[in-house]
Amino acid sequence: MRILSIETSCDDTGVALLDISHTKEKFRIAVFKNLVASQKEHAKWGGVVPNIARNGHIKNLPILFKKIGKEKYDAIAVTVGPGLEPALWAGIEFAKKLSKELRVPLIGVNHLEGHLYSFLLSQKTGNMQYECGIKNIFPAISLIVSGGNTILVKMDSITKWNVLGETQDDAAGEALDKAARTLGLSYPGGPAIERLAHKGNPRAIAFPRPMIYHKNYDFSFAGLKTALFYYVRDIKKGVRVLQNKKRENAVALYLDIGQRVSRADIASSFQEAVVDVLARKTARAVKEYRAQSLFLSGGVAANTVLRKRLGDVSRETKAKLFVASHAFNTDNAAMIAVAGYMSTLNRKKYAIKADADLHL
Ligand code: KG4
Repeated sequence: MRILSIETSCDDTGVALLDISHTKEKFRIAVFKNLVASQKEHAKWGGVVPNIARNGHIKNLPILFKKIGKEKYDAIAVTVGPGLEPALWAGIEFAKKLSKELRVPLIGVNHLEGHLYSFLLSQKTGNMQYECGIKNIFPAISLIVSGGNTILVKMDSITKWNVLGETQDDAAGEALDKAARTLGLSYPGGPAIERLAHKGNPRAIAFPRPMIYHKNYDFSFAGLKTALFYYVRDIKKGVRVLQNKKRENAVALYLDIGQRVSRADIASSFQEAVVDVLARKTARAVKEYRAQSLFLSGGVAANTVLRKRLGDVSRETKAKLFVASHAFNTDNAAMIAVAGYMSTLNRKKYAIKADADLHL
């Protein structure tokens, strides 16, 4: 199936062209084009502004589409949610027009299913060619970590899954972005924190590990973000706070008296707390469900400390780790084509209208 795909859920405009086929044993995917236009204008606002994003997509979509050209497609896949409603509509309207003009069926795609299926793009077999065997990889545990989501999923087969847990407040990427702001770093914060963290000590400050001992698989990062905020505020005020180890979720501060901490130490310790919670909960799920594989996806998958920790989990549990390259982990249209293809296998249909709160 040759699929043209469109992604406009947030601030990245994506258009891709893929050829996808499968047998009972494997998926074969050729990515002919995977184009992304990023909108730089949000940086100065410290976050994405929905209407600026929509206008950016309206401007970018025809430019990217022109680079692909009017070929023969079997279907057009477009993200219908979750995301920013005005941004989603820009992609949907463009796709609808194109589908009418070219007389090609339209497939509505859940952006989160795009992340979920990006593992199918993790093994390169040639120039733009990917192949993924699906025979002995289930059950699998999939960790989706992006700016908007932190979700742990159990997959029993390529088309059957259930959500084990998700964040109750901020997503991991969102917490990193907000922490970066508190530390005066650039947006997006995840990469900025990671760069600075390399120079710091991850054990300098014992930030809380929210919900780490909870029996469920949910996450919470808002308290951790607040802990950092107060830590920095009190350092600025010169306040010293004694350790309070008992209250796991407390917005308490842990400052080793007399010890000097740098901004790099704070970034490194904060990143360590986020990664520690993600890795330990994922490891527990892999063990509980005797998973054969572990999938990591979403923008935060770029984080090398997180990858290393999940690599350790994979070695310890023998669950094989699948992570696609960065281009398929940040918002992109290639993964939307893959998820669109899976919807046709599943006979699953999403309405062709923006649904900002769509769930997995
Ligand atoms: O999936 P994605 O491109 O889009 C959204 O869901 O918005 O993810 C973006 C998120 C941002 O929060 C960004 O800070 C984070 O991924 N991110 C990282 C790294 N690169 C991007 N977080 C930690 N370490 C990184 N190297």
